[in-house]
Amino acid sequence: MKEKRLITSALTYVNNIPHVGHIVGCHLPADIFARYCRSFGYDTTFVGGSDMHGTPSLVTAQEVGLPVEELTEKLHQIHKQIYEKLEISYDIYSNTHTDIHKEVTTDFFLTLNKNGYISQGETDVYYCDHCNMFLPDRYVVGTCPKCGYEAANGDQCEKCDSLLSSGELVNAKCKTCGRPATLKRTKHIFLRLDKGTEMLDKYIESKKDVWRPHVYAEAKKWVQEGLKERCISRDNKWGFPIPLEGFENKVFYVWFDAPIGYISITKELDEQKYIDLWCKKDAKIYNFVGKDNIQFHTVFFPTMLLENGEYNLAHNVVGLNFLNFEGQKFSKSKKIGVFCNSLIDGSKQIDIDTLRAYLATIIPENRDTDFKWEDYKNNCNSELVGKFGNLFNRSLNMVKSYFGGTLDLPLPSENELNDLDKEVLQAIKEYPQKISDAFERAELREAYKLVMSYATVGNGYVEKSAPWALMKQEKTAEAQKVLRLALNLCASLCIVASPFIPQKTKTLWQDQLGLSGDPTSNNFWENASKLNIPTPHTIGTPQPIFERFDDIKLKELRDFMSTPFDIKEFFKK
Ligand code: 2FM
Ligand code: ZN
Repeated sequence: MKEKRLITSALTYVNNIPHVGHIVGCHLPADIFARYCRSFGYDTTFVGGSDMHGTPSLVTAQEVGLPVEELTEKLHQIHKQIYEKLEISYDIYSNTHTDIHKEVTTDFFLTLNKNGYISQGETDVYYCDHCNMFLPDRYVVGTCPKCGYEAANGDQCEKCDSLLSSGELVNAKCKTCGRPATLKRTKHIFLRLDKGTEMLDKYIESKKDVWRPHVYAEAKKWVQEGLKERCISRDNKWGFPIPLEGFENKVFYVWFDAPIGYISITKELDEQKYIDLWCKKDAKIYNFVGKDNIQFHTVFFPTMLLENGEYNLAHNVVGLNFLNFEGQKFSKSKKIGVFCNSLIDGSKQIDIDTLRAYLATIIPENRDTDFKWEDYKNNCNSELVGKFGNLFNRSLNMVKSYFGGTLDLPLPSENELNDLDKEVLQAIKEYPQKISDAFERAELREAYKLVMSYATVGNGYVEKSAPWALMKQEKTAEAQKVLRLALNLCASLCIVASPFIPQKTKTLWQDQLGLSGDPTSNNFWENASKLNIPTPHTIGTPQPIFERFDDIKLKELRDFMSTPFDIKEFFKK
Protein backbone atom coordinates (compact mmCIF):
# COMPACT_ATOMS: atom_id res chain seq x y z
CA MET A 1 0.00 0.00 0.00
CA LYS A 2 1.28 3.45 -0.87
CA GLU A 3 1.46 6.26 1.71
CA LYS A 4 -1.44 7.30 3.91
CA ARG A 5 -3.07 10.57 3.02
CA LEU A 6 -5.62 12.60 4.93
CA ILE A 7 -7.49 15.18 2.92
CA THR A 8 -9.54 17.81 4.68
CA SER A 9 -11.85 20.44 3.34
CA ALA A 10 -12.45 23.55 5.48
CA LEU A 11 -15.32 23.04 7.89
CA THR A 12 -18.02 25.37 6.65
CA TYR A 13 -20.01 27.62 8.96
CA VAL A 14 -23.62 26.63 9.01
CA ASN A 15 -25.24 30.03 9.06
CA ASN A 16 -26.54 29.68 5.53
CA ILE A 17 -26.58 27.49 2.44
CA PRO A 18 -23.38 27.27 0.39
CA HIS A 19 -23.08 29.03 -2.93
CA VAL A 20 -20.87 27.89 -5.78
CA GLY A 21 -17.99 29.98 -4.40
CA HIS A 22 -17.86 27.74 -1.35
CA ILE A 23 -17.88 24.63 -3.52
CA VAL A 24 -15.10 25.74 -5.78
CA GLY A 25 -13.14 27.25 -2.87
CA CYS A 26 -12.60 23.96 -1.05
CA HIS A 27 -15.13 21.07 -1.23
CA LEU A 28 -14.73 20.35 -4.94
CA PRO A 29 -10.94 20.69 -5.24
CA ALA A 30 -10.54 18.57 -2.10
CA ASP A 31 -12.87 15.97 -3.60
CA ILE A 32 -11.14 15.87 -6.97
CA PHE A 33 -7.82 15.44 -5.21
CA ALA A 34 -9.18 12.77 -2.85
CA ARG A 35 -10.65 10.83 -5.77
CA TYR A 36 -7.32 10.96 -7.56
CA CYS A 37 -5.49 9.78 -4.40
CA ARG A 38 -7.84 6.82 -3.93
CA SER A 39 -7.56 5.89 -7.57
CA PHE A 40 -3.78 6.16 -7.54
CA GLY A 41 -3.67 3.74 -4.64
CA TYR A 42 -2.88 5.97 -1.67
CA ASP A 43 -4.52 4.88 1.54
CA THR A 44 -6.84 7.89 1.46
CA THR A 45 -9.17 9.38 4.03
CA PHE A 46 -11.26 12.42 3.19
CA VAL A 47 -12.97 14.26 6.02
CA GLY A 48 -15.24 17.26 6.23
CA GLY A 49 -17.94 18.70 8.38
CA SER A 50 -19.94 21.67 9.52
CA ASP A 51 -18.45 24.31 11.78
CA MET A 52 -21.33 24.64 14.19
CA HIS A 53 -20.01 27.08 16.76
CA GLY A 54 -19.11 30.72 16.49
CA THR A 55 -21.15 33.82 16.24
CA PRO A 56 -22.15 33.47 12.56
CA SER A 57 -24.61 30.71 13.48
CA LEU A 58 -25.68 32.47 16.67
CA VAL A 59 -26.50 35.68 14.87
CA THR A 60 -28.50 33.79 12.23
CA ALA A 61 -30.34 31.77 14.87
CA GLN A 62 -31.44 34.99 16.48
CA GLU A 63 -32.57 36.45 13.17
CA VAL A 64 -34.53 33.34 12.30
CA GLY A 65 -35.90 32.87 15.80
CA LEU A 66 -34.68 29.33 16.40
CA PRO A 67 -32.50 27.89 19.14
CA VAL A 68 -28.99 27.76 17.76
CA GLU A 69 -28.71 23.97 18.31
CA GLU A 70 -31.75 23.43 16.15
CA LEU A 71 -30.72 25.85 13.43
CA THR A 72 -27.22 24.45 13.10
CA GLU A 73 -28.38 20.84 13.11
CA LYS A 74 -30.92 21.56 10.36
CA LEU A 75 -28.45 23.50 8.26
CA HIS A 76 -25.82 20.82 8.83
CA GLN A 77 -28.18 18.25 7.30
CA ILE A 78 -28.85 20.51 4.30
CA HIS A 79 -25.13 21.08 3.75
CA LYS A 80 -24.58 17.35 3.90
CA GLN A 81 -27.25 16.72 1.26
CA ILE A 82 -25.77 19.33 -1.05
CA TYR A 83 -22.29 17.84 -0.88
CA GLU A 84 -23.71 14.38 -1.50
CA LYS A 85 -25.58 15.68 -4.51
CA LEU A 86 -22.35 17.15 -5.85
CA GLU A 87 -20.65 13.76 -5.38
CA ILE A 88 -18.21 15.15 -2.83
CA SER A 89 -16.92 11.80 -1.66
CA TYR A 90 -16.39 12.45 2.03
CA ASP A 91 -15.55 9.36 4.03
CA ILE A 92 -17.27 11.21 6.82
CA TYR A 93 -19.12 14.50 6.90
CA SER A 94 -19.67 15.31 10.55
CA ASN A 95 -19.75 18.49 12.61
CA THR A 96 -18.12 20.24 15.54
CA HIS A 97 -20.94 19.88 18.03
CA THR A 98 -20.39 16.24 18.97
CA ASP A 99 -19.34 14.59 22.24
CA ILE A 100 -16.17 13.28 20.69
CA HIS A 101 -15.20 16.73 19.44
CA LYS A 102 -15.80 18.17 22.88
CA GLU A 103 -13.55 15.54 24.42
CA VAL A 104 -10.75 15.99 21.88
CA THR A 105 -10.93 19.80 22.14
CA THR A 106 -10.88 19.73 25.93
CA ASP A 107 -7.89 17.35 26.01
CA PHE A 108 -6.11 19.40 23.39
CA PHE A 109 -6.55 22.52 25.45
CA LEU A 110 -5.47 20.88 28.71
CA THR A 111 -2.25 19.70 27.05
CA LEU A 112 -1.54 23.23 25.79
CA ASN A 113 -2.16 24.50 29.28
CA LYS A 114 0.08 21.87 30.82
CA ASN A 115 2.79 22.74 28.28
CA GLY A 116 2.69 26.37 29.35
CA TYR A 117 1.18 27.91 26.25
CA ILE A 118 -2.01 29.28 27.78
CA SER A 119 -2.08 32.48 29.76
CA GLN A 120 -4.85 34.21 31.62
CA GLY A 121 -5.43 37.91 31.74
CA GLU A 122 -7.84 40.74 31.61
CA THR A 123 -8.79 42.30 28.36
CA ASP A 124 -11.18 44.91 27.07
CA VAL A 125 -14.11 43.42 25.23
CA TYR A 126 -16.89 45.24 23.42
CA TYR A 127 -20.04 45.50 25.41
CA CYS A 128 -23.51 46.78 24.60
CA ASP A 129 -25.16 48.54 27.53
CA HIS A 130 -28.51 48.44 25.78
CA CYS A 131 -28.51 44.71 24.96
CA ASN A 132 -26.69 44.05 28.20
CA MET A 133 -24.17 41.67 26.71
CA PHE A 134 -20.59 41.27 25.59
CA LEU A 135 -20.20 41.53 21.84
CA PRO A 136 -17.84 38.89 20.53
CA ASP A 137 -16.76 38.70 16.86
CA ARG A 138 -19.78 39.12 14.65
CA TYR A 139 -21.95 40.79 17.26
CA VAL A 140 -19.93 43.91 16.73
CA VAL A 141 -19.27 45.85 13.56
CA GLY A 142 -17.06 48.82 12.83
CA THR A 143 -14.39 50.29 10.60
CA CYS A 144 -11.31 48.19 9.96
CA PRO A 145 -8.25 50.02 11.32
CA LYS A 146 -6.10 48.52 8.55
CA CYS A 147 -8.07 49.10 5.35
CA GLY A 148 -10.91 51.41 6.35
CA TYR A 149 -13.67 48.98 5.35
CA GLU A 150 -16.77 50.11 7.23
CA ALA A 151 -18.46 46.78 7.92
CA ALA A 152 -15.62 44.82 9.49
CA ASN A 153 -16.41 42.16 12.08
CA GLY A 154 -14.86 42.14 15.54
CA ASP A 155 -12.44 39.30 14.81
CA GLN A 156 -11.71 39.65 11.11
CA CYS A 157 -12.10 42.16 8.32
CA GLU A 158 -13.76 40.51 5.35
CA LYS A 159 -12.26 43.00 2.95
CA CYS A 160 -8.54 42.82 3.77
CA ASP A 161 -8.62 39.57 5.77
CA SER A 162 -6.81 41.11 8.74
CA LEU A 163 -7.33 39.40 12.05
CA LEU A 164 -8.59 41.89 14.57
CA SER A 165 -8.46 41.87 18.33
CA SER A 166 -10.96 43.39 20.68
CA GLY A 167 -10.61 47.17 20.82
CA GLU A 168 -9.14 47.56 17.35
CA LEU A 169 -12.32 48.45 15.44
CA VAL A 170 -12.97 52.12 14.85
CA ASN A 171 -16.52 53.28 15.70
CA ALA A 172 -17.55 49.88 16.98
CA LYS A 173 -21.29 49.33 17.13
CA CYS A 174 -23.56 46.61 18.45
CA LYS A 175 -24.81 44.66 15.46
CA THR A 176 -28.10 43.82 17.14
CA CYS A 177 -29.25 47.30 18.10
CA GLY A 178 -26.83 49.58 16.26
CA ARG A 179 -25.80 51.52 19.35
CA PRO A 180 -22.15 52.32 20.04
CA ALA A 181 -20.27 49.54 21.78
CA THR A 182 -18.15 50.32 24.79
CA LEU A 183 -15.13 48.44 26.05
CA LYS A 184 -15.44 46.56 29.29
CA ARG A 185 -12.68 44.71 31.13
CA THR A 186 -13.13 41.01 31.62
CA LYS A 187 -11.05 37.87 32.26
CA HIS A 188 -9.96 35.77 29.29
CA ILE A 189 -7.50 33.09 28.25
CA PHE A 190 -4.88 33.49 25.58
CA LEU A 191 -2.90 31.20 23.36
CA ARG A 192 0.77 32.09 23.41
CA LEU A 193 1.35 32.19 19.67
CA ASP A 194 4.43 34.28 20.41
CA LYS A 195 6.11 31.43 22.30
CA GLY A 196 5.71 29.10 19.33
CA THR A 197 7.09 31.47 16.71
CA GLU A 198 10.43 29.77 16.27
CA MET A 199 8.93 26.30 15.81
CA LEU A 200 6.34 27.72 13.46
CA ASP A 201 8.86 29.56 11.33
CA LYS A 202 10.88 26.38 10.92
CA TYR A 203 7.75 24.55 9.82
CA ILE A 204 6.80 27.28 7.33
CA GLU A 205 10.33 27.31 5.91
CA SER A 206 10.17 23.54 5.40
CA LYS A 207 7.10 24.12 3.21
CA LYS A 208 8.60 26.75 0.96
CA ASP A 209 8.63 24.44 -2.04
CA VAL A 210 5.43 22.59 -1.22
CA TRP A 211 2.91 25.37 -0.57
CA ARG A 212 1.86 27.70 -3.35
CA PRO A 213 3.80 30.97 -3.29
CA HIS A 214 0.81 33.03 -2.10
CA VAL A 215 0.20 30.60 0.79
CA TYR A 216 3.82 30.61 1.87
CA ALA A 217 4.00 34.41 1.56
CA GLU A 218 0.93 34.92 3.70
CA ALA A 219 2.25 32.66 6.47
CA LYS A 220 5.64 34.31 6.34
CA LYS A 221 4.13 37.77 6.57
CA TRP A 222 2.41 36.89 9.84
CA VAL A 223 5.61 35.62 11.36
CA GLN A 224 7.55 38.64 10.21
CA GLU A 225 4.99 41.03 11.65
CA GLY A 226 5.46 39.28 14.99
CA LEU A 227 2.94 36.94 16.55
CA LYS A 228 1.13 38.07 19.65
CA GLU A 229 -0.84 36.04 22.13
CA ARG A 230 -4.40 35.61 20.98
CA CYS A 231 -7.59 35.48 22.99
CA ILE A 232 -9.25 32.08 22.64
CA SER A 233 -12.22 32.51 24.96
CA ARG A 234 -15.53 34.20 24.30
CA ASP A 235 -18.45 35.44 26.37
CA ASN A 236 -20.98 33.24 24.61
CA LYS A 237 -23.19 30.37 25.53
CA TRP A 238 -22.71 28.61 22.19
CA GLY A 239 -19.53 26.54 22.03
CA PHE A 240 -17.61 24.29 24.38
CA PRO A 241 -17.03 25.44 27.96
CA ILE A 242 -13.51 26.27 29.02
CA PRO A 243 -12.35 23.68 31.54
CA LEU A 244 -10.73 26.13 33.93
CA GLU A 245 -11.91 27.52 37.20
CA GLY A 246 -13.27 31.01 36.89
CA PHE A 247 -14.18 30.59 33.20
CA GLU A 248 -17.43 28.66 33.63
CA ASN A 249 -19.43 31.19 31.67
CA LYS A 250 -17.12 31.37 28.71
CA VAL A 251 -16.60 29.15 25.69
CA PHE A 252 -13.74 28.53 23.28
CA TYR A 253 -13.33 30.90 20.36
CA VAL A 254 -14.67 29.15 17.27
CA TRP A 255 -11.31 29.20 15.51
CA PHE A 256 -9.82 27.34 18.45
CA ASP A 257 -12.16 24.37 18.33
CA ALA A 258 -12.94 24.26 14.58
CA PRO A 259 -9.58 23.07 13.23
CA ILE A 260 -9.34 20.52 16.03
CA GLY A 261 -12.47 19.22 14.29
CA TYR A 262 -10.26 17.66 11.62
CA ILE A 263 -8.74 15.50 14.33
CA SER A 264 -11.96 14.62 16.12
CA ILE A 265 -13.85 13.91 12.91
CA THR A 266 -11.10 11.50 11.83
CA LYS A 267 -11.39 9.87 15.25
CA GLU A 268 -15.15 9.67 14.90
CA LEU A 269 -14.69 7.91 11.58
CA ASP A 270 -12.21 5.34 12.85
CA GLU A 271 -9.96 5.16 15.90
CA GLN A 272 -7.15 3.40 14.02
CA LYS A 273 -7.18 5.93 11.19
CA TYR A 274 -6.96 8.66 13.79
CA ILE A 275 -3.80 7.10 15.20
CA ASP A 276 -2.29 6.39 11.79
CA LEU A 277 -3.05 9.80 10.33
CA TRP A 278 -2.56 12.12 13.25
CA CYS A 279 -0.13 10.42 15.59
CA LYS A 280 2.32 8.70 13.21
CA LYS A 281 4.67 10.90 11.30
CA ASP A 282 4.55 9.15 7.93
CA ALA A 283 1.02 10.22 6.99
CA LYS A 284 0.55 13.19 4.68
CA ILE A 285 -2.17 15.71 5.49
CA TYR A 286 -3.61 18.03 2.85
CA ASN A 287 -5.82 20.93 3.95
CA PHE A 288 -7.94 22.52 1.22
CA VAL A 289 -9.02 25.96 2.37
CA GLY A 290 -10.50 29.19 1.06
CA LYS A 291 -8.59 32.44 0.87
CA ASP A 292 -9.81 33.86 4.19
CA ASN A 293 -8.85 30.65 5.98
CA ILE A 294 -5.20 30.52 4.90
CA GLN A 295 -3.74 32.27 7.94
CA PHE A 296 -5.61 29.98 10.30
CA HIS A 297 -4.20 26.89 8.60
CA THR A 298 -0.65 28.14 8.14
CA VAL A 299 -0.17 30.06 11.38
CA PHE A 300 -2.82 29.65 14.03
CA PHE A 301 -3.59 25.91 13.81
CA PRO A 302 0.00 24.76 13.15
CA THR A 303 1.12 26.70 16.23
CA MET A 304 -1.60 25.01 18.26
CA LEU A 305 -0.38 21.64 16.97
CA LEU A 306 3.28 22.42 17.59
CA GLU A 307 2.60 23.64 21.11
CA ASN A 308 0.43 20.63 21.85
CA GLY A 309 3.16 18.39 20.52
CA GLU A 310 1.14 15.24 19.94
CA TYR A 311 -0.04 15.59 16.38
CA ASN A 312 1.06 15.69 12.77
CA LEU A 313 1.04 18.94 10.83
CA ALA A 314 -0.20 19.46 7.31
CA HIS A 315 2.09 18.53 4.46
CA ASN A 316 0.29 20.87 2.10
CA VAL A 317 -2.11 23.69 2.80
CA VAL A 318 -3.81 24.13 -0.53
CA GLY A 319 -5.04 27.69 -0.20
CA LEU A 320 -7.53 28.76 -2.83
CA ASN A 321 -8.54 32.27 -3.83
CA PHE A 322 -12.00 33.75 -4.33
CA LEU A 323 -14.50 33.08 -7.05
CA ASN A 324 -16.38 36.05 -8.44
CA PHE A 325 -19.56 35.90 -10.43
CA GLU A 326 -19.73 37.56 -13.84
CA GLY A 327 -17.09 40.00 -12.64
CA GLN A 328 -18.84 40.83 -9.37
CA LYS A 329 -18.76 39.57 -5.80
CA PHE A 330 -21.32 36.94 -4.91
CA SER A 331 -24.21 38.65 -3.18
CA LYS A 332 -27.37 37.05 -1.95
CA SER A 333 -29.21 40.28 -1.53
CA LYS A 334 -28.40 41.40 -5.07
CA LYS A 335 -29.13 37.90 -6.39
CA ILE A 336 -25.64 37.75 -7.81
CA GLY A 337 -24.41 34.20 -7.80
CA VAL A 338 -25.18 30.53 -8.14
CA PHE A 339 -26.85 29.09 -5.09
CA CYS A 340 -26.72 25.46 -4.11
CA ASN A 341 -30.21 25.20 -2.66
CA SER A 342 -31.25 24.67 -6.29
CA LEU A 343 -29.32 21.41 -6.35
CA ILE A 344 -31.56 19.75 -3.79
CA ASP A 345 -34.74 21.51 -4.78
CA GLY A 346 -35.78 18.48 -6.78
CA SER A 347 -37.88 20.37 -9.32
CA LYS A 348 -35.18 20.47 -11.96
CA GLN A 349 -32.55 17.94 -12.90
CA ILE A 350 -29.09 19.47 -12.99
CA ASP A 351 -26.31 17.51 -14.60
CA ILE A 352 -23.74 17.29 -11.84
CA ASP A 353 -20.76 16.31 -13.97
CA THR A 354 -21.35 19.20 -16.37
CA LEU A 355 -21.29 21.50 -13.37
CA ARG A 356 -18.25 19.82 -11.79
CA ALA A 357 -16.34 19.96 -15.06
CA TYR A 358 -16.98 23.65 -15.56
CA LEU A 359 -16.13 24.43 -11.96
CA ALA A 360 -12.87 22.51 -12.36
CA THR A 361 -11.85 25.01 -15.04
CA ILE A 362 -12.32 27.94 -12.66
CA ILE A 363 -10.81 26.61 -9.43
CA PRO A 364 -9.12 29.78 -8.11
CA GLU A 365 -5.74 28.17 -7.66
CA ASN A 366 -3.41 31.06 -8.25
CA ARG A 367 -5.71 34.04 -8.49
CA ASP A 368 -9.36 34.98 -8.12
CA THR A 369 -11.49 33.59 -10.93
CA ASP A 370 -14.86 34.30 -12.44
CA PHE A 371 -17.98 32.19 -12.93
CA LYS A 372 -19.58 33.08 -16.27
CA TRP A 373 -22.67 31.37 -17.62
CA GLU A 374 -21.45 31.85 -21.18
CA ASP A 375 -18.28 29.95 -20.30
CA TYR A 376 -20.42 27.27 -18.67
CA LYS A 377 -22.19 26.77 -21.96
CA ASN A 378 -18.99 26.85 -23.99
CA ASN A 379 -17.22 24.40 -21.73
CA CYS A 380 -20.12 22.03 -22.09
CA ASN A 381 -20.59 22.39 -25.83
CA SER A 382 -17.05 22.55 -27.06
CA GLU A 383 -15.14 20.54 -24.46
CA LEU A 384 -17.54 18.01 -22.95
CA VAL A 385 -19.74 17.40 -25.98
CA GLY A 386 -17.38 18.45 -28.76
CA LYS A 387 -14.18 16.83 -27.59
CA PHE A 388 -14.67 14.36 -24.80
CA GLY A 389 -18.13 12.99 -25.56
CA ASN A 390 -17.55 13.07 -29.28
CA LEU A 391 -14.54 10.79 -29.07
CA PHE A 392 -16.50 8.13 -27.23
CA ASN A 393 -19.62 8.54 -29.28
CA ARG A 394 -18.11 8.41 -32.72
CA SER A 395 -15.74 5.54 -31.87
CA LEU A 396 -18.44 3.44 -30.22
CA ASN A 397 -20.95 4.12 -32.98
CA MET A 398 -18.50 2.97 -35.62
CA VAL A 399 -17.82 -0.23 -33.68
CA LYS A 400 -21.56 -0.76 -33.57
CA SER A 401 -22.29 -0.05 -37.22
CA TYR A 402 -19.19 -1.55 -38.85
CA PHE A 403 -18.70 -4.57 -36.60
CA GLY A 404 -22.06 -5.17 -34.92
CA GLY A 405 -20.57 -4.00 -31.62
CA THR A 406 -17.85 -6.66 -31.42
CA LEU A 407 -14.12 -6.25 -31.92
CA ASP A 408 -12.76 -9.72 -32.55
CA LEU A 409 -9.28 -9.09 -33.92
CA PRO A 410 -6.30 -8.68 -31.60
CA LEU A 411 -4.02 -5.71 -31.95
CA PRO A 412 -1.54 -6.38 -34.77
CA SER A 413 2.11 -6.82 -33.87
CA GLU A 414 4.35 -3.77 -33.46
CA ASN A 415 5.80 -3.87 -36.97
CA GLU A 416 2.33 -3.70 -38.49
CA LEU A 417 1.52 -0.50 -36.67
CA ASN A 418 1.87 2.84 -38.41
CA ASP A 419 3.16 6.07 -36.86
CA LEU A 420 -0.30 7.26 -35.90
CA ASP A 421 -1.00 4.00 -34.07
CA LYS A 422 2.32 4.26 -32.28
CA GLU A 423 1.53 7.80 -31.20
CA VAL A 424 -1.69 6.61 -29.61
CA LEU A 425 0.12 3.85 -27.74
CA GLN A 426 2.66 6.39 -26.60
CA ALA A 427 -0.11 8.73 -25.42
CA ILE A 428 -1.69 5.90 -23.40
CA LYS A 429 1.66 5.39 -21.74
CA GLU A 430 2.46 9.03 -21.12
CA TYR A 431 -0.74 10.97 -20.46
CA PRO A 432 -1.77 9.19 -17.24
CA GLN A 433 1.69 9.89 -15.86
CA LYS A 434 1.59 13.55 -16.85
CA ILE A 435 -1.88 13.91 -15.35
CA SER A 436 -0.82 12.22 -12.15
CA ASP A 437 2.20 14.55 -11.90
CA ALA A 438 -0.15 17.54 -12.07
CA PHE A 439 -2.38 16.02 -9.38
CA GLU A 440 0.63 15.42 -7.14
CA ARG A 441 1.36 19.15 -7.32
CA ALA A 442 -2.31 19.73 -6.48
CA GLU A 443 -2.63 21.54 -9.82
CA LEU A 444 -6.13 20.43 -10.58
CA ARG A 445 -6.84 22.85 -13.41
CA GLU A 446 -3.71 21.69 -15.15
CA ALA A 447 -4.81 18.08 -14.65
CA TYR A 448 -8.17 18.91 -16.20
CA LYS A 449 -6.54 20.62 -19.18
CA LEU A 450 -4.37 17.56 -19.75
CA VAL A 451 -7.43 15.31 -19.63
CA MET A 452 -9.01 17.40 -22.37
CA SER A 453 -5.88 17.45 -24.47
CA TYR A 454 -5.71 13.68 -24.09
CA ALA A 455 -9.20 13.53 -25.61
CA THR A 456 -7.95 15.77 -28.41
CA VAL A 457 -5.18 13.27 -29.15
CA GLY A 458 -7.87 10.59 -29.45
CA ASN A 459 -9.99 12.69 -31.79
CA GLY A 460 -6.98 13.57 -33.91
CA TYR A 461 -6.13 9.91 -34.27
CA VAL A 462 -9.64 8.92 -35.36
CA GLU A 463 -9.78 11.87 -37.74
CA LYS A 464 -6.45 11.16 -39.41
CA SER A 465 -6.88 7.39 -39.51
CA ALA A 466 -10.39 7.77 -40.95
CA PRO A 467 -11.84 4.30 -40.33
CA TRP A 468 -14.81 5.23 -42.54
CA ALA A 469 -12.45 5.56 -45.49
CA LEU A 470 -10.74 2.28 -44.60
CA MET A 471 -14.14 0.56 -44.57
CA LYS A 472 -14.90 1.95 -48.03
CA GLN A 473 -11.65 0.50 -49.24
CA GLU A 474 -12.62 -2.78 -47.58
CA LYS A 475 -9.66 -2.58 -45.22
CA THR A 476 -11.82 -3.86 -42.38
CA ALA A 477 -8.98 -5.28 -40.28
CA GLU A 478 -7.27 -1.93 -40.36
CA ALA A 479 -10.46 -0.10 -39.49
CA GLN A 480 -10.93 -2.45 -36.56
CA LYS A 481 -7.39 -1.78 -35.38
CA VAL A 482 -8.07 1.96 -35.38
CA LEU A 483 -11.26 1.54 -33.39
CA ARG A 484 -9.61 -0.84 -30.96
CA LEU A 485 -6.87 1.69 -30.29
CA ALA A 486 -9.40 4.50 -30.03
CA LEU A 487 -11.44 2.54 -27.48
CA ASN A 488 -8.31 1.76 -25.51
CA LEU A 489 -7.58 5.45 -25.34
CA CYS A 490 -11.21 6.05 -24.31
CA ALA A 491 -10.89 3.53 -21.48
CA SER A 492 -7.72 5.16 -20.24
CA LEU A 493 -9.39 8.55 -20.52
CA CYS A 494 -12.29 7.33 -18.38
CA ILE A 495 -9.92 6.53 -15.55
CA VAL A 496 -7.98 9.78 -15.59
CA ALA A 497 -11.13 11.87 -16.00
CA SER A 498 -12.99 10.11 -13.21
CA PRO A 499 -11.90 12.45 -10.39
CA PHE A 500 -13.61 15.28 -12.29
CA ILE A 501 -16.67 13.58 -13.75
CA PRO A 502 -17.28 10.43 -11.71
CA GLN A 503 -20.85 9.72 -12.82
CA LYS A 504 -20.22 9.98 -16.54
CA THR A 505 -16.98 8.03 -16.54
CA LYS A 506 -18.58 5.16 -14.67
CA THR A 507 -21.46 5.04 -17.15
CA LEU A 508 -19.12 5.24 -20.11
CA TRP A 509 -16.89 2.50 -18.78
CA GLN A 510 -19.60 0.06 -17.77
CA ASP A 511 -22.60 0.72 -20.00
CA GLN A 512 -20.98 2.00 -23.17
CA LEU A 513 -17.49 0.58 -23.39
CA GLY A 514 -18.96 -2.54 -21.81
CA LEU A 515 -16.03 -3.12 -19.48
CA SER A 516 -16.10 -4.71 -16.06
CA GLY A 517 -14.90 -2.98 -12.92
CA ASP A 518 -15.37 0.60 -11.87
CA PRO A 519 -13.05 3.41 -13.01
CA THR A 520 -13.91 5.39 -9.89
CA SER A 521 -12.78 2.64 -7.51
CA ASN A 522 -9.63 2.53 -5.40
CA ASN A 523 -6.38 1.54 -7.05
CA PHE A 524 -7.78 1.74 -10.55
CA TRP A 525 -5.31 4.29 -11.89
CA GLU A 526 -2.70 1.66 -12.76
CA ASN A 527 -5.04 0.47 -15.51
CA ALA A 528 -4.91 3.88 -17.18
CA SER A 529 -1.65 3.11 -18.95
CA LYS A 530 -2.77 -0.36 -19.97
CA LEU A 531 -4.74 -1.59 -22.96
CA ASN A 532 -8.06 -2.45 -21.35
CA ILE A 533 -10.09 -3.70 -24.31
CA PRO A 534 -9.90 -7.51 -24.41
CA THR A 535 -10.22 -9.73 -27.49
CA PRO A 536 -12.93 -10.40 -28.39
CA HIS A 537 -14.89 -7.58 -26.89
CA THR A 538 -18.49 -6.53 -27.25
CA ILE A 539 -19.33 -2.95 -26.36
CA GLY A 540 -22.49 -1.72 -24.64
CA THR A 541 -24.88 0.82 -26.07
CA PRO A 542 -23.39 4.05 -27.45
CA GLN A 543 -25.22 7.16 -26.38
CA PRO A 544 -24.26 10.83 -26.21
CA ILE A 545 -23.09 11.33 -22.64
CA PHE A 546 -23.24 15.11 -22.33
CA GLU A 547 -26.06 17.26 -23.59
CA ARG A 548 -25.52 20.45 -25.58
CA PHE A 549 -26.74 23.73 -24.17
CA ASP A 550 -28.61 26.19 -26.33
CA ASP A 551 -29.40 29.68 -25.12
CA ILE A 552 -32.89 28.74 -23.97
CA LYS A 553 -31.68 25.85 -21.84
CA LEU A 554 -28.87 27.95 -20.48
CA LYS A 555 -31.26 30.70 -19.46
CA GLU A 556 -33.54 28.21 -17.73
CA LEU A 557 -30.65 26.83 -15.71
CA ARG A 558 -29.30 30.25 -14.98
CA ASP A 559 -32.63 31.51 -13.67
CA PHE A 560 -33.11 28.40 -11.60
CA MET A 561 -29.71 28.51 -9.97
CA SER A 562 -29.63 32.25 -9.37
CA THR A 563 -32.41 32.23 -6.80
CA PRO A 564 -30.85 32.75 -3.42
CA PHE A 565 -31.93 30.77 -0.43
CA ASP A 566 -34.00 32.88 1.92
CA ILE A 567 -33.19 31.47 5.29
CA LYS A 568 -35.92 33.37 7.15
CA GLU A 569 -38.56 32.21 4.68
CA PHE A 570 -37.28 28.66 4.86
CA PHE A 571 -37.54 28.41 8.61
CA LYS A 572 -40.98 30.01 8.67
CA LYS A 573 -42.41 26.82 7.25
O1 2FM B 1 -14.62 30.10 7.04
C1 2FM B 1 -15.28 29.18 7.50
O2 2FM B 1 -16.34 28.80 6.99
C2 2FM B 1 -14.75 28.47 8.72
N1 2FM B 1 -15.84 27.86 9.39
C3 2FM B 1 -13.72 27.47 8.32
C4 2FM B 1 -13.19 26.62 9.41
S1 2FM B 1 -12.00 25.56 8.79
C5 2FM B 1 -11.48 24.60 10.02
F1 2FM B 1 -10.50 25.03 10.61
F2 2FM B 1 -12.37 24.07 10.67
ZN1 ZN C 1 -27.02 46.36 21.36
